[in-house]
Amino acid sequence: MNKIFDLSGKRAIVTGGGSGIGRAIAIALANNGAKVSILDLDESKAQEVALEITNAGGEAIAVKCDVSDEQSVKQALDGRPIDILINNAGIAHIGNVSNTSPEDMDRIYNINVKGAYLCLREGVNLMKAKGGTIVNVSSIAAHVGISDRFAYSMSKGAIHAMTLSVARDFLANNIRCNSISPARVHTPFVDGFLAKNYPGNEKEMFQALSNTQPIGRMGKPAEIGALVLYLCSDEASFITGTDFPIDGGFITLNN
Ligand SMILES: NC(=O)c1ccc[n+]([C@@H]2O[C@H](COP(=O)([O-])OP(=O)(O)OC[C@H]3O[C@@H](n4cnc5c(N)ncnc54)[C@H](O)[C@@H]3O)[C@@H](O)[C@H]2O)c1
Repeated sequence: MNKIFDLSGKRAIVTGGGSGIGRAIAIALANNGAKVSILDLDESKAQEVALEITNAGGEAIAVKCDVSDEQSVKQALDGRPIDILINNAGIAHIGNVSNTSPEDMDRIYNINVKGAYLCLREGVNLMKAKGGTIVNVSSIAAHVGISDRFAYSMSKGAIHAMTLSVARDFLANNIRCNSISPARVHTPFVDGFLAKNYPGNEKEMFQALSNTQPIGRMGKPAEIGALVLYLCSDEASFITGTDFPIDGGFITLNN
């Protein structure tokens, strides 16, 4: 393991750490010395990632957790102090305002918004005494109009706004809170989306989605992990209340 930053002895929570971006974040934090709790609805996927980390000499445990459930979040965070919280668990939804049902809206809200709130509430309370750092995973959908992402954009805009609010309210407690806004990152989230919505045309659509980033490809989960690692390190101690696009130029160069 090559350490870039030193997170030795820090206790980190990564929600949705069983797959994709969360998995890469958990690995990046653990590779740099953090003790990582991988919270995921899918316990077996969380266990696979924890095993991968411990096999490589790091420290990780898997914890089954539904971030949209208050009791589940309380149990998973277990009342012990934490240093790092990564709010990454999230789900997608395709639709515009006219064809998004109230049930779709509630489902996206419950996981992407209320789930992040419950973890923030618990996490901030566990960090208050000693300070800590939080990274919330937002999206380019919080910044620009993306077709057919009405409910999803709502949820990622809320992540962005909650980040500012928490950063402001807990300055005196030495809690830093930032968000990141990835464009498309090649994860099972994207593969699942293509399989469901474009069966038989996955390859063409993969290329089309790659081309929507001016840089010509999707992001890699490890690239997101590296940004989050930096934001959690002491080297980033002057950074709070900021959103970081990591998007191959999507927001600023798509003209
Ligand atoms: N992949 C992308 O292109 C992309 C781009 C921008 C933002 N994001 C965001 O990044 C985050 C992770 O995305 P990903 O692509 O790695 O997705 P993914 O589907 O590969 O992984 C998401 C993980 O969250 C878990 N999860 C889902 N609901 C949960 C719940 N209620 N409680 C606990 N865990 C739950 C899933 O089991 C899964 O392991 C999401 O918030 C997503 O919105 C992804």
